[in-house]
Amino acid sequence: NEIKIFSPGTVANVSCGFDVMGFCLDNVGDEMVIRKVDQKGIRITKIEGFDLPYEADKNVAGISALAMYNALDLDFGFEIEIYKKIKPGSGIGSSAASAVGSVFGMNELLNRPFNKTQLTEFAMKGEAFISKCEHADNIGPAIFGGFILAKSVSPLQILEIPFPEDLYATIIHPQIEIKTADARGLLPTEVALQDAIKQWANLGGLVHGLHSGDYEVIKSALHDVIVEPHRSKLIPHFQEVKEAAIHAGAVGSGISGSGPSIFSLCKGLERANEVKAAIEAIYSKTGIEYDIHVSKIN
Ligand code: HSE
Repeated sequence: NEIKIFSPGTVANVSCGFDVMGFCLDNVGDEMVIRKVDQKGIRITKIEGFDLPYEADKNVAGISALAMYNALDLDFGFEIEIYKKIKPGSGIGSSAASAVGSVFGMNELLNRPFNKTQLTEFAMKGEAFISKCEHADNIGPAIFGGFILAKSVSPLQILEIPFPEDLYATIIHPQIEIKTADARGLLPTEVALQDAIKQWANLGGLVHGLHSGDYEVIKSALHDVIVEPHRSKLIPHFQEVKEAAIHAGAVGSGISGSGPSIFSLCKGLERANEVKAAIEAIYSKTGIEYDIHVSKIN
């Protein structure tokens, strides 16, 4: 009647795939306990780590849980405990982890009436409450794992992209908060055709490189000419970190989600650790607090 789950952090956008690409981290995430109880409805009974609302209809985990609960006709309810490890506003899918954890846990306790795509739809209701826009590039990888392409939101179509076994990410999280809604507000509503051509060529290249495990193609594709030029201004020392990561052997580096975290992709754990050291050499001198970790894409 109770399940304890790990709800993973995720990196959305992945440079050229704004709002459509994302990947899942193996060692960063929230813990949640979901419990079946006699009392009908959804209640959040514990939140540790960060100060978030307990009202189910104001909390991302509660909103996605309610979306799923209201689609069923149950004579019992659920309690949710949230042990938040991913800082809200960090750019590694904090709200998505909460939104996914509740619906994933409930689905398990109900013997899986819903498939992964349906769970993604419920979880997107929670995420939309925070970012004011429905996108699946954090929710998708948190539910499906690995690398995904959110091919379409309506109807929802999530494609699982094969990727090389030895793909690692180094993620630095400077301890400043950027709200996704604010970072979206910065973006232009129109793009130049020349930029659009570069971006879709890169996105196609990234998908092909991941499929075929060709790191040279992945490297040539990890560029963002549309979003990064606007958002990178919000992230202290972004260019320096990116240059240091590439110099240390990363295949690419960019803003994780809406920032301020910065991801770098690497072939192999050893290289990912070298990239971590190179980034720390820069950030440790800035006086800005940060977390940095290496994750396998999983
Ligand atoms: N694709 C989203 C964005 C991810 O960059 O705004 C953050 O939720």
